[in-house]
Amino acid sequence: ARKILLTRHGESEYNQRGLIGGNSSLSERGERYARLLPEAVIARLPEEQQLSVAVWTSTLKRTIETARFLPFPKLRWKALDEINAGICDGLTYEQIGERFPEEYAARKNDKLRYRYPAGESYMDVIQRVEPVIIELEREREYVVVVAHQAVLRAVYAYFMGVAPEDIPRLAMPLHTLIELTPMPDGTMHEERFPVD
Ligand code: G3H
Repeated sequence: ARKILLTRHGESEYNQRGLIGGNSSLSERGERYARLLPEAVIARLPEEQQLSVAVWTSTLKRTIETARFLPFPKLRWKALDEINAGICDGLTYEQIGERFPEEYAARKNDKLRYRYPAGESYMDVIQRVEPVIIELEREREYVVVVAHQAVLRAVYAYFMGVAPEDIPRLAMPLHTLIELTPMPDGTMHEERFPVD
């Protein structure tokens, strides 16, 4: 792609309550982000007549709602859905610590390889996003990816050459547009734009 714009969904109702996973809608703050996003994205695009821009989301409500005001064709990828937290889906981190102390400790100890019971690990997510990365490399023009914290860590790490061990703790804040521009020398130039 000529440029890749990465963003998490706007704040969701689950984010607001500190719950992981689920399929909630945007909070009021998240809704505001969705409304601000088109202008922020368009500001990062060149002024050309026939601009080809694709918007890729996951299949979860919070990314679809975040992308809905972007005036470009959209594609939904199951491969961009958030890490499946299995038996911990819908809990706070505190509740996980109380109900499943061994799981909590195991994840803290090896966040990259830890797999939630009946769910996924970061290693699983890194594998799962591979087809998306292949298509991002094949895509000729501009792609806006509206997805989730864990999957965006994996996508970002691929393009920026982040070591696997560092992927699960990469900073991936809400309400921030991350611009990745491939340079002629083969490197990626990164810029971050908070949107608020
Ligand atoms: O709900 C899941 C989070 O977005 C993933 O964050 O892997 O740091 O727990 P975490």
